Amino acid sequence: MIDPKIVEEIKARNPIEDVMAQYAVLKRAGSNMVCNCPFHSEKTPSCTVFTARQSFYCFGCGAGGDVISLVRRAEGLEYVEALEYLGRRAGIEVITSDSDAPRFDKRRFYEMNKAAARYFRDILFTDPMGAPGREYAEKRGLDTETIKHFGIGFAPDSFSSLYPYLKDLGYTDEEMNAAFLVGKSTKTGRPFDMFRKRLMFPIIDVSGNVIAFGGRIVDDSDPRKYLNSSDTPVFRKRKNLYALRYAKNSCAEKMILCEGYMDVIALHAAGFENAVATLGTAITPDQARLMAKYTKKVVICYDNDTAGQTAAEKAIRLINETGTETSVLNIKGAKDPDEFIKKFGAPAFSKLIGESKSKFRFTLDSILSKYDLSETDGKVRALGAICKMLAGVYSSAERDIYTREIAEELGVKPESIEADTKKIMRRMERERKNNEREEALRQASGIGDRINPEFVSNIAGANTEEQIIALLLLKQENRDLAKKGADMISAEDFVTEFGKKLFTAIMELENNSSSEFNESELGAVLTVDEMARLEKMKMRRYDLTENGEKEFIDLCAALRAESRKKKTSESSLSADELAKYFSALNKK
Ligand code: CTP
Ligand code: MN
Repeated sequence: MIDPKIVEEIKARNPIEDVMAQYAVLKRAGSNMVCNCPFHSEKTPSCTVFTARQSFYCFGCGAGGDVISLVRRAEGLEYVEALEYLGRRAGIEVITSDSDAPRFDKRRFYEMNKAAARYFRDILFTDPMGAPGREYAEKRGLDTETIKHFGIGFAPDSFSSLYPYLKDLGYTDEEMNAAFLVGKSTKTGRPFDMFRKRLMFPIIDVSGNVIAFGGRIVDDSDPRKYLNSSDTPVFRKRKNLYALRYAKNSCAEKMILCEGYMDVIALHAAGFENAVATLGTAITPDQARLMAKYTKKVVICYDNDTAGQTAAEKAIRLINETGTETSVLNIKGAKDPDEFIKKFGAPAFSKLIGESKSKFRFTLDSILSKYDLSETDGKVRALGAICKMLAGVYSSAERDIYTREIAEELGVKPESIEADTKKIMRRMERERKNNEREEALRQASGIGDRINPEFVSNIAGANTEEQIIALLLLKQENRDLAKKGADMISAEDFVTEFGKKLFTAIMELENNSSSEFNESELGAVLTVDEMARLEKMKMRRYDLTENGEKEFIDLCAALRAESRKKKTSESSLSADELAKYFSALNKK
């Protein structure tokens, strides 16, 4: 538990508009501020920062809450981590009392990982058990300097080698297990080394901490070519990039994004020190944002196969959403950058970077490659697909340039491409409006509600619940009424599990707080999405003048009635049936 006074102070010293300014450009709008929402891509601002009540809410995607929720979402932190982050920002030390202190000491994890990296490195360099690693490193053309630079090592072919080493250094089984270094046999319960017979690539964060490992098998003894640390108390694979620590000082202009560890290593060794890679997963929005922090332009350099090209399309989209430029490199005559460098050398790779395609060219080429342009029919269909792509280009000047380029290339009049594109744009606009209407209807009806999936099966009841929750949050007098117990309201009266959970959490906080009720503390037990939902519930009541005892008592009575109804006859329509009903209604 964190002292509620500290939570209050942290909030007071971190005005939400200041913190939001880190993620978005704010414009004043009356007494509030608006911005393009940092959590979904949009061209007109639908995110409002309410300065008076120190909260934010996005009417587009439903993100919202106080400054703590904002930081949790933007930085991907847990509640306590977000408080620590804001504490640091304002120069307040956040002390977590023992009872609820994080189970693990991160510094010990960094030390333990570093010890493991040293251990693997020593095996690779000097130990007889390291022979297969040395052989493999040589086969892959890794020289000593590169191996040292990246801290590469070798995990020997043994089930109990790193384990006793770390045990001697004083690390517990629980720590080693949580760090993904040691597993526990389900049969015997005995601990065993996770990484075996693998070339080990330490994953190092920008501050130089060893946070995880990637391990490549050196023969065919395991069908899993790579084994990567899963998420641990010090590692989130979706939020880090391989070699960013080495790339961060030379990537301001341009960053090269590859798929594999071996690609990055080969590129750095050849002098391209601005190369990074994702960590065994497809690129995530967090990684795109991380890149945007360090560079203006990302050259995507994925493998020369269909999977690589499809992955490149996703990378373009995510990186462009952060406002960062992209271009795509076409590896010719080799399957990946590693092989290319080995075959053709660094100058050839430089040349390749020079020839990297703009996002437009890349998309155009991938469309053209799908059709037979020597036939009229193929050409017509290709043009159809191209116009569809053009219709998605926002800037009309840009669209104009592309239109003329394509027209010349395919030998058609620019006017006809333009006319077709406009037609598609008008259709898209109609569809967008329809979707918006449908979405509004869905939201009003609660269909497809991820946070409260039961909403749709009792709309009236769930609506009442949400208003009760809002009134509880808004006024102490309502919480006092709720404390009177079952005659007024109890968890049993709530018709959805979500409502029950919120009510229980609110009342627990109310009954246990030593000081004034502070809604922010609910963040300790609720997810950011759930916190955002609370914000939305309050929003519906803020502008109403009457949020006091009378309304509260009436709403409680209404909910009790709903709850009785629910108990006697379970909702007559299932969620599925309701969804069908609403979509039929909407089509009319
Ligand atoms: N990867 C993984 N698990 C696999 C295969 C790949 O986690 N079974 C991840 C690794 O991070 C790898 C990246 O995907 O670095 C790219 O895969 P690939 O191109 O196959 O690997 P390379 O790094 O090029 O390795 P190598 O050249 O040794 O095959
Ligand atoms: Mn490779």
